[in-house]
Amino acid sequence: MKPPANATEKERLLWLEIDENKIPEHVAIIMDGNGRWAKKRGLSRIKGHKAGAKAIENALDSALHLGVKVITVYAFSTENWIRPEYEVSVLMTLLFQFLKLQKKKLMDKDIKLSIIGDRSKLPLFVNREIDRVLDETRENKSLIFNIALNYGGRADILNAVKNLIEAGIKPDDLNEKLFSSYLYTKDLPDPDLLIRTSGEIRVSNFLLWQIAYSELYFTDILWPDFDTIEMLKAILEYQKRERRFGGTGGI
Ligand code: FPP
Repeated sequence: MKPPANATEKERLLWLEIDENKIPEHVAIIMDGNGRWAKKRGLSRIKGHKAGAKAIENALDSALHLGVKVITVYAFSTENWIRPEYEVSVLMTLLFQFLKLQKKKLMDKDIKLSIIGDRSKLPLFVNREIDRVLDETRENKSLIFNIALNYGGRADILNAVKNLIEAGIKPDDLNEKLFSSYLYTKDLPDPDLLIRTSGEIRVSNFLLWQIAYSELYFTDILWPDFDTIEMLKAILEYQKRERRFGGTGGI
């Protein structure tokens, strides 16, 4: 693939290796390691989250040039509320600031915001900003930037079941396609590639139904260090894999 004009020499070599006919449509990311990144530098965890927010901007730029259609980031899980109150409130403020600052950039880059998760527990000032950016970017087409907020894979499935029952769906009418249409991700394709940073090898309740056939990529790199080079390495690894979706040669 042709490298972007501002690519460094090292990035250029990787861009040239990318096969533009094998780009994942949806990349989901568990952005782990902000705290450890900060600790290694003698900084507060908050500084780690700030650096993590910057890394998101970078991931969006790489995704745009690659032609990825959806980027989903796990920003706040249903379990994250048990973190110290101060850290939760900083994460909410960071999210608010991020959205406020990114609004213009999302418009310039034709990126549409999307949110999955239970928004009812988020602070009002965050929800208001989310609504503004959702509204402003709703016609954008180049990339969907999907943020998982107060999201849990099990909660997603449970919520779908509750809504199916409430809608009076008969057991015989239920199938995988219909079930998927009750999940938070109803308008999105399933992830082709799931990336987790910071060396943890688990999926931590993220998109459980949706990653049934996703390629999983784990790296020791801490999220704030996940730059263009790391994104390109992940894509190249994905392109080396042979996807079978349960067809011949494996399960
Ligand atoms: C994991 O690091 C990261 C999170 C729980 C949240 C991710 C948040 C951001 C990248 C910043 C704000 C989000 C947006 C969308 C602007 P950790 O704290 O678990 O790190 P550790 O495991 O090293 O302690």
